[in-house]
Amino acid sequence: MDSPTLASPLTGRFVAFEGGDGAGKSTQLELLAAALRAQGLVDATGRPGLVVTREPGGTALGVGIRDLLLHGGAVDAVAEALLYAADRAQHVATVVRPALARGALVLADRCLDSSLAYQIEGRQLAEELVRAVNAPATGGLTPDLTILLDVGQDVAATRLAESERAADRLERAGGDFHRRVNQRYRDLAAEAPERYAVVAAAGPVAEVQARVRAAFDRHAAAWGRTAR
Ligand code: TYD
Repeated sequence: MDSPTLASPLTGRFVAFEGGDGAGKSTQLELLAAALRAQGLVDATGRPGLVVTREPGGTALGVGIRDLLLHGGAVDAVAEALLYAADRAQHVATVVRPALARGALVLADRCLDSSLAYQIEGRQLAEELVRAVNAPATGGLTPDLTILLDVGQDVAATRLAESERAADRLERAGGDFHRRVNQRYRDLAAEAPERYAVVAAAGPVAEVQARVRAAFDRHAAAWGRTAR
């Protein structure tokens, strides 16, 4: 007889990774995902309980939008904000919400905070506009935890310069742009410290991952103590 699946504190939780370009966010997310997969997470229906996804580009529609945004020609700042919001609407509706509804743990490489940091602070668009176009995209869905990989601008610039792949359109934006983006991230974390873990992202990958894991485990333990 099948043993019943116990609800875990991770069931139906939404965790986002955020950070400026060159913070090492994608590498750290993959390492955490690999460690959690090794634990054999399953959801209530017995399907794999871990969904790893990203914005932009977490859906078929989003892959097209991502290509337009990052590798196309010049994009007007408002058009850019709308395209990120369109990607997010499709992603939240067809990937994130269904995964959470079936009890999966969702790890997302970026979400709304990226638009708050890059479009408001980086592109200097009105906060009202960016929030307004994103409200229907997220429908109010907020991550249970956002892991912010915080790195100084010189470390980020060095990492990007050493990277083998060609810089995309946003990575080529100037140092001031990226400094503003990083500051907005820190401000967002300071406004809601219970939903954020700010992780120092300079140093060897394994050491940063140990800090990411410790932050994740700390929040997971707190989820275990509180009923949803
Ligand atoms: P990302 O996938 O992190 O880039 P990479 O895979 O090259 O590390 O993000 C792509 C770029 O899109 C990044 O420069 C940040 C930007 N971005 C925004 O400006 N606004 C947004 O809402 C999102 C999700 C990303």
